[in-house]
Amino acid sequence: MEPVRDSLRPPRVVLGVCGGIAAYKAVDVCRRLVDAGVHVVPVMTVEATRFVGEVTFSALASEPVQTSLFDESSPIPHTVLGQTADLVVVAPATAQLLARYAGGFSDDLLSATLLATRAPVLVCPAMHTEMWEHPAVQENLATLLRRGVHVLEPEEGRLAGGDVGAGRLADPATIAQRVLELLGRDEVVGTQGDLVGVRVVVSAGGTREPIDPVRFLTNRSSGKQGLALAESAARRGAEVTLVTAAPLVVRPELAARVTVVGVESASDMERAMLAAAAGAQVVVMAAAVADFRPKAPAEHKLAKGDGVPEIVLEPTPDILAALSNARRPGQVLVGFAAETHDVLAHGRAKLERKRVDLLVVNDVSQPGVGFDHDTNAVVILDDAGSSFDIPLTTKSAVADAVFDRVSARLSAHERKTPQP
Ligand code: CTP
Repeated sequence: MEPVRDSLRPPRVVLGVCGGIAAYKAVDVCRRLVDAGVHVVPVMTVEATRFVGEVTFSALASEPVQTSLFDESSPIPHTVLGQTADLVVVAPATAQLLARYAGGFSDDLLSATLLATRAPVLVCPAMHTEMWEHPAVQENLATLLRRGVHVLEPEEGRLAGGDVGAGRLADPATIAQRVLELLGRDEVVGTQGDLVGVRVVVSAGGTREPIDPVRFLTNRSSGKQGLALAESAARRGAEVTLVTAAPLVVRPELAARVTVVGVESASDMERAMLAAAAGAQVVVMAAAVADFRPKAPAEHKLAKGDGVPEIVLEPTPDILAALSNARRPGQVLVGFAAETHDVLAHGRAKLERKRVDLLVVNDVSQPGVGFDHDTNAVVILDDAGSSFDIPLTTKSAVADAVFDRVSARLSAHERKTPQP
């Protein structure tokens, strides 16, 4: 029987949680979906209850958690759950769950619900790299994909054993986002959150300093952290300007909230940043601005026949310094610093020299950190002397951590400034 969908009632999502370390992240998925107006029905496997307490989900979700096929108040809970769901999401999905689902087993409430539904299903696997790459798991996944099941692949990152590899559960914000997309509710993304009404400017990418019309000096920056920052701010409700020297594409569901301004050189970026920052409450310099540029770029392409060119370099403008000079009262200014040694000492000194509120510093000599990776590990330093350690995680999670600090500063400023 097809579920009857009343367009006025909130979408009903069964959130299946399996037993794995990542089960605690399902709490965040649950909270995000409830915040977005989704009716969340939590279903935990018995193993999941060993990792997270049932009470936690019962308190945050729209209904008490269910774990058993045998419920005194409902003789066929799986059929009711499956038929009334608009979507079923399983996060984390263990290798065991994927095998049971692919094999058609129905020996617990979650796997029985998966068989008893015609609603779209999204599985978000999380497991150790060796398990994730095992042919048995990959074949089960291929079977599910063939049957139309949606899969949100795990990310690379630090795993439960402390090692780094593929298998880490996708970011809770990404999972919640995907659920909303599948429900056709993208419009609610970015309409709530702690940055609604806040204008944020983010710079990204490595600037390109021309040598001649076809050559330039640049660096290894991919712009991925800057993009994650812009998307995080937009997801939290901000109006974002992303000034980028790298070709970046904003996720379609957030694109309406992010104005992308493409630039090439440090001078272009300085102009664009000063213009955008004039109306912004938050400015984040995540770009890797070249420190030097050719003093006199050639007007015409340099040819081999002209001999080996001697390129004289000069310093580029310090954009953060210019932003700090032009700063309006209450504006939060955030700098980034990639270091390879004495990371915290260099970070502290830079925070003071650059006169920023927050400096996000990373040690790019560590595996999986910084340039061109999808992951990062940072310490967020603030001008009051506090530091916040964000161990290796996705760039998106780093971005969220940065905006958690930014948001706290904005509300502290609001508390100090009486509103008219
Ligand atoms: N930055 C900037 N303009 C520059 C160079 C850097 O605005 N010309 C910004 C970066 O975007 C970053 C911060 O300053 O937010 C720190 O960048 P970094 O390259 O570490 O700083 P430098 O001043 O170049 O320090 P150093 O070369 O001494 O490490």
